[in-house]
Amino acid sequence: MATSGQLQGKSALIVGGAGGIGKAIGAAFVHEGAHVVLADFNSSAAAAAAADIGATAGIHIDVTDEDSVQAAVNAARAELGSIQILVNSAGIATQASVADMSLQMWSETIAVDLSGVFLVTHHVLPEMIDRGSGRIINIASQLGTKGGHSLAHYCAAKAGVVGFTKSLALEVAPLGVLVNAISPGPINTPMVEGIDEEWKIAKRKELPLGRFGEPDEVAPTAVLLASDPGGNLYVGANLGPNSGDVMP
Ligand SMILES: NC(=O)c1ccc[n+]([C@@H]2O[C@H](COP(=O)([O-])OP(=O)(O)OC[C@H]3O[C@@H](n4cnc5c(N)ncnc54)[C@H](O)[C@@H]3O)[C@@H](O)[C@H]2O)c1
Repeated sequence: MATSGQLQGKSALIVGGAGGIGKAIGAAFVHEGAHVVLADFNSSAAAAAAADIGATAGIHIDVTDEDSVQAAVNAARAELGSIQILVNSAGIATQASVADMSLQMWSETIAVDLSGVFLVTHHVLPEMIDRGSGRIINIASQLGTKGGHSLAHYCAAKAGVVGFTKSLALEVAPLGVLVNAISPGPINTPMVEGIDEEWKIAKRKELPLGRFGEPDEVAPTAVLLASDPGGNLYVGANLGPNSGDVMP
């Protein structure tokens, strides 16, 4: 694949980078010349992914634990010198109807998929504000716009990520930090492998493209948002590589 070195010399922390969309974004960033640290709850997979894509390091993070987040951000800074680009891609997805959903299932999803985005951003942001530059890319989901059967907790979290992204974008764009979201459609990753087959068959039928995407079809959208000049005018946007599932 040709590279135009769009991220030459940039440094990026990718949270949830051990596999799926996060790893693909990491690979695309490395390909474009960035120094990348992959952080994930699954630290051995993060280390293996880092070796696989030529990233600087793969480290542990639990986005639900503030001490772990602070330690991971410090470790990433030690590896990279600074964090110029943050990608929040950690996420979990379980399924239950609202009538059957326990508070624990609801809370776990909100903790990882929504509060985790806040927590990591909260610890990386001061450096970006002090420097007067930075890019933050939050991986939401088109289901946050559309809703999804037996996914009320996940959809609520992802709609929350979009609202968080827009509000933070308003706060920090004047300070030089650009914050945006990507809302992919169904993408073939370990997360989707865990969803039941009946849901996947019905979902494919809804899509104008008739197929799920691949992680490396999402990664170029993140490169765009991270790049200069390509991403310079995106503020609080929610870009949708989604096979036509949602047409805003
Ligand atoms: N695959 C899809 O169809 C799809 C569609 C829209 C949005 N998304 C979103 O994309 C992001 C990446 O998902 P994916 O599809 O690549 O799945 P994935 O399961 O491959 O990646 C998610 C990663 O998050 C990590 N993670 C889970 N809990 C964590 C925690 N507490 N702390 C740190 N890391 C944690 C996992 O270990 C995993 O590596 C998620 O936010 C997901 O909601 C996925």
